[in-house]
Parts: sequence; structure tokens; C-alpha cells
Amino acid sequence: MNWKEKYKDKIFTADEAVKHISSGDKIIFGDWVGEPPALVTALMQRADELKDVCIIHGMSPGPNAYLLPEYKENFRHISLFLGAKSRPGYRDGSVEFMGGSNFHEWPKMFESSSQLNPHWAFIQVSEPNEDGMCSFGNSCCFTEPAARTASHIIAQVNPKFPKVGGKMISLDAIDYIVPQESPLYTIGRFEPDEKTKTIADYVADLVEDGSTLQMGIGALPDAIARNLVDKKHLGIHTETITEATMDLIRCGALDNSMKTIHKGVCIGAQAAGSEEFYRFMDGNPMFELYPVDYVNDPYVIGKNYKQVSINACIEVDLRGQANSESIGGKQFSGIGGQLDHVRGARLSRGGKSILALNSTVKGDSISKIVPHFEAGNITTVSRYDIQYVVTEYGVADLKYKTERERAHALIQVAHPDFREELTYEAKKMGILY
Ligand code: COA
Repeated sequence: MNWKEKYKDKIFTADEAVKHISSGDKIIFGDWVGEPPALVTALMQRADELKDVCIIHGMSPGPNAYLLPEYKENFRHISLFLGAKSRPGYRDGSVEFMGGSNFHEWPKMFESSSQLNPHWAFIQVSEPNEDGMCSFGNSCCFTEPAARTASHIIAQVNPKFPKVGGKMISLDAIDYIVPQESPLYTIGRFEPDEKTKTIADYVADLVEDGSTLQMGIGALPDAIARNLVDKKHLGIHTETITEATMDLIRCGALDNSMKTIHKGVCIGAQAAGSEEFYRFMDGNPMFELYPVDYVNDPYVIGKNYKQVSINACIEVDLRGQANSESIGGKQFSGIGGQLDHVRGARLSRGGKSILALNSTVKGDSISKIVPHFEAGNITTVSRYDIQYVVTEYGVADLKYKTERERAHALIQVAHPDFREELTYEAKKMGILY
């Protein structure tokens, strides 16, 4: 029997499904590129009838009218990550930021925190297979845990969503099924500048054949990936699988053959890229997506041999602490899975964690290697967890180094214009003599 026939009692339009939302309810949206556009649009159309609905979300991908100040009375927000869309709301107080929790623990938070425990999960899934099981498409991440923990699930079944293996959801588990096609959220490629290319060269040199990689999104990971085309038997165990993975598979550098867990398969919590990339993933046995409490668990990551984590940060102090989420004493982004992956790489036999950054910002006027953070800035990666710090001036390996060795190594990779001042400050701090 056709699934639409079988589940006809649960099939609704988006408008009909969101009629069940009441003032004061808590809704978790599927994470980032998995946010269900049809359900969000329908909810917005009811905005004036609703008061104090709490929306829990990650990075917001779409037009995101729900974040606009004019809806302040209708919707309040708990954001699990601050991106360009949620930052203004955070600054004016309408968005509350969920800081201080590791990404892999968020599903536990949904289960146990009375503030986060959701009434509703708004998710997006692929059309079902013959067993009635739907893929979470490009976002299993905290979308699956949202569905797992919410009292009720409304799912947009989007025929455009790729069918990706890994964790699936049965149509039986869904309360309101909304079949509706929507365009997918896509992410473009990034063009690196000269500094980024130099950093990417240093990082690629640290990646050995047979490594399993975690890389984020942006110009730097894209540039690094371009430098990995001559490597052999790379693997992927990452939070976000990007289009660069497709390129590395196509050129033969990445086959996941040396992985210790999930051999032969790229593992991620979500995937973001172009339509072409989503088509490449669709039904491709080389990809599986799992929830973030599995993918980002440092003990799971650490089971991989030669796990390499590559992330960006905002600044590093001379003791080797990295701030990846605050500027000027204020929250700027979020921790995401950075610390999970740094720790996972540290637990991995032959693993490496790499934090990569330009040595300066704002036209070389601010050094990103600093004596110490200004008041209010956050330590995202502690000096006990950090390993490689890479800038366009080279690589500082901080693992098992004394304070003095660390400060020396970091000053060597700082911009030359700041090295004298950093040395002076290090002496004042009693690190250098
Ligand atoms: N002092 C002052 N301003 C700084 C700064 C510093 N030390 N470092 C960066 N900035 C400014 C930049 O100038 C830029 O400002 P602009 O937009 O006005 O030009 C802005 O901050 C963003 O800097 P940029 O270098 O473009 O950041 P990015 O977009 O590459 O993001 C992080 C870098 C660290 C914020 C981002 O990678 C992040 O949020 N990481 C944490 C989460 C994570 O790692 N997730 C992946 C793990 S799986």
C-alpha cells in the first residue's frame, strides 16, 4: 500500500498541523539546514494568535522572521548557537543563549531540563522507504534527539530531501505528517585569500595518510581540502559533512578504509552544501548521519585511529587557552562541537587537534595571539586540551610543553609586528625571562 494511503489519518497540511500549537508551548526546530520551511512558514502565519511560544533552535538558515523584534511578544527563543541571524536578537534580549553545555550533551538536556524539554518537535524528513522509515536527510544532529524527546512530532516530508543512511525515523512515530516539497537550504563554496591558503598548506602537512578528519565549514576547511587531494585512505568522522568530502571521494583521496569504526563510511551529524552534493549523498552507502550525542561523543570520536580535528578560533592566549566564541567580552557564536572534537582527537591513537587562525584581524591592527584574554572573553578550549595552533606564520605544537615553551612557540606564529610586545607582556606575566 502507498504510504500516503496507509497514513492518511495522520496527513495534514502545514496550516492544519500547526493549529495544534498553543500559547506557552515549547517547540524545537530541526537543526540548521534541517529546519522545516513549510512548518515555520505556517507557524509565522499564526503568529498574531500566539503568545510566548518558546522556540528552541540552532543556527537559523532561512528568512527566520520568527527572530524579528516585532514578534517578541509572540515568540521567545532559546538559541543553541549564535549565528548572524540570531545575534541581533541576543543583543536586544529576545534570544536567550544556551551556553555552557557540550554539544554532544544537548540531547540529554532536552530530556532532563525542565526549561528545554519540548512539547513539539518540528522536523523535516525524506519520503519513507518501503518499511515506512524516513531519513533525516541532511540533518540528524539534534533533529533526531528533538523528535526523540518531544511530546509530539510534526514532520514535513520533503520529496527533495536526500535519503541518507544512519539513524532513521518511522512514520509511526510521527503525529502529524505534512507532505510538502520545499527547496533545500544550500551552502556555497568559499574562496580562500592568500593568508588562508598559507594556513591551509601548514594544516595539510599535519594530515597523514589514513587519517580520519573532522572539519567545519568555511574558507579554511575548503582550502585545506584542496590540499588533501594527494593523500591516501582518508576518512570522515565529523559534525558537518561538507561538499569538500565529495571532491575528496571523487579524486580518490578519501575512502574511509583506515577507519576503526564505521569503516568505509563517512560519519556526520549533518551535511551542508549544494544541490549537487545532496544528490551525491542521496542513497549513497558511503554516507551515514547519526545524532549529535553519538557523533560528537569524544569517546566515540576517540575510537578512530589518527583522528584529526580542524577548527577555527578567535584568539589564543600565551598560556595556550583558545577562545572560539566571544569578542569584546560578549558572546559571538557558540562552542558547537569544537571541544567535543578536540577532546576526541586527543583520545585517539595517533590523533591530532588543530586550531587554525589568521595571526591578525582588522587590517593587521589586532593580534589574535594575545598575552591574555580581555575580561569577559571565554575559554573554549583549555590549555589542558589544546594541541596544534596554526597561523600563516607556521605551526605551534603545544602538547606536553612547558609554559615557557608554549609562549615561545605561540610568539613565533604571531604576526611579526606584535612579537616584541607579546614577549614584553610574557615577561611581565612571569612566563618568559
Ligand atoms: N578580535 C576582534 N575581532 C575579531 C577577532 C579578534 N580576535 N577575531 C575575529 N574577529 C572578527 C572578525 O574581524 C570578523 O568581523 P567582521 O565580520 O566585522 O569582519 C568576525 O569577528 C568573524 O571573524 P572570522 O574570522 O570571519 O570568523 P569565522 O566566521 O571564520 O568564525 C569562529 C570563526 C571561531 C567564530 C567560528 O569558527 C566558530 O564559531 N567556532 C566555534 C564553533 C565551531 O568550531 N564549530 C565547528 C565544530 S564541529
